[in-house]
Amino acid sequence: MTTERPRLSVVGTGYLGVTHAVCMAELGYEVIGLDVDADKIALLRKGVVPFYEPDLPDLLEKHNGRSLRFTTDYAELAESADIHFVCVGTPQLPGQYGADLRHVESAFASLARHLTRQSLVVGKSTVPAGTAVRMAQLVRDLAPSPDAEVAWNPEFLREGFAVADTLRPDRLVFGVESEWAETQLRAAFAPVIDQGAPVVVTDFATAELVKVAANSFLATKISFINAMAEVCEATGADVTQLATAIGYDPRIGRRFLAPGLGFGGGCLPKDIRAFIARAGELGVDQAVSFLREVDEINLRRRARTVEIGLDLVDGSYQGIRVTVLGAAFKPDSDDIRDSPALDVAAAISRQGADVVVYDPHAMDNARRLHPELDYAVSLDAALDGADLVLLLTEWAEFRAMDPTAIGGIVRQRNVVDGRNVLDPVVWRAAGWHYRALGRP
Ligand code: UDX
Repeated sequence: MTTERPRLSVVGTGYLGVTHAVCMAELGYEVIGLDVDADKIALLRKGVVPFYEPDLPDLLEKHNGRSLRFTTDYAELAESADIHFVCVGTPQLPGQYGADLRHVESAFASLARHLTRQSLVVGKSTVPAGTAVRMAQLVRDLAPSPDAEVAWNPEFLREGFAVADTLRPDRLVFGVESEWAETQLRAAFAPVIDQGAPVVVTDFATAELVKVAANSFLATKISFINAMAEVCEATGADVTQLATAIGYDPRIGRRFLAPGLGFGGGCLPKDIRAFIARAGELGVDQAVSFLREVDEINLRRRARTVEIGLDLVDGSYQGIRVTVLGAAFKPDSDDIRDSPALDVAAAISRQGADVVVYDPHAMDNARRLHPELDYAVSLDAALDGADLVLLLTEWAEFRAMDPTAIGGIVRQRNVVDGRNVLDPVVWRAAGWHYRALGRP
């Protein structure tokens, strides 16, 4: 195998896999992507990205059918690449905290059976500590070649910035068991390393833990400021000013200190829960018991948002028309996994309100999960006749709303700013009853 320009494969064409495959093609590699879902592969072959992510469709179009191909055949994949990146999902197990590793196990096993020559299988999925060792044993047991090896390379990309984060990552983490594996990974990321991305070369367990530790820290930072929001609500203080003031301390920093409805998505919530579960198995549950509190503070913000809205409509949602702005768990994404916005919308609907939701990109996904809610075709249609407006995902379109103009569309000027992105002075001057989380 040449170490200069290894041929790459990506197993699993979900969010992470498609992004990785497309970006590696953009970096100049020959890439083949595999999924067991033939419909997904058919879409990708036609150049369709099955989710919303800025910049990704253009890059797929640029490389599709040239340096980038897709297949459903493991034999073809094993034949076509030297380094294989496993990018399948590790969702939360239903009714439990732990992660479901079925897809990881099946991807490693299916691929291993076809490895007839020296190859490196790199896990990118977020997994509990101890998984990489097990996958390495699985590959040794199943691969026809004695020279098939495993490495772990966690991924830190953010939805909405996935392309930039992959092309210009903050850092690369290589969990390896041999110098050969490190050399292969350095070759697979040569253009990124040449641009100056720092590389941390470590063992399997550290590589696995870096990812969950990073997400736990970020979740803790968000819940810290949201806990301060609870205290602010009890004292009449303003949590946004508090965040700005403490954020000027470079040891603290203002990023990830945005108070509001809290975190959701396919990573932070399930990763901290899987971490709690794994720490329990390892006998160190006390070390991460604070993460339960982080989770609870986060969920309390959703309940509090429902309560603040209730205050504005005088104590009953019965027969009230409520406009929910935002369904995605964050802006610039159509991902609704564990979306705080949809959770709040559903809770208010259960209390008897007539809830209409609008989101610039996540409507189809939201409709599938919550068919009981109404969906508007535009922002104006959503606001028409509203008694209460809740801004729950901070899309640019919502941040830019003119309170005077939309004041004429709604029935009553009541707004809950669930992300602290509107200017209370301007909104109040336009005759709105403005409420926010953590602010007077
Ligand atoms: C996260 C990590 O940032 C990323 O490194 C990892 O690879 C995957 O998980 P992502 O889920 O895309 O990425 O979203 P992120 O931008 O981290 O936001 C997570 C959630 O936290 C969102 O719901 C967002 O609205 C919320 N959030 C974020 C806050 O409530 N306040 C903040 O200050 C920042």
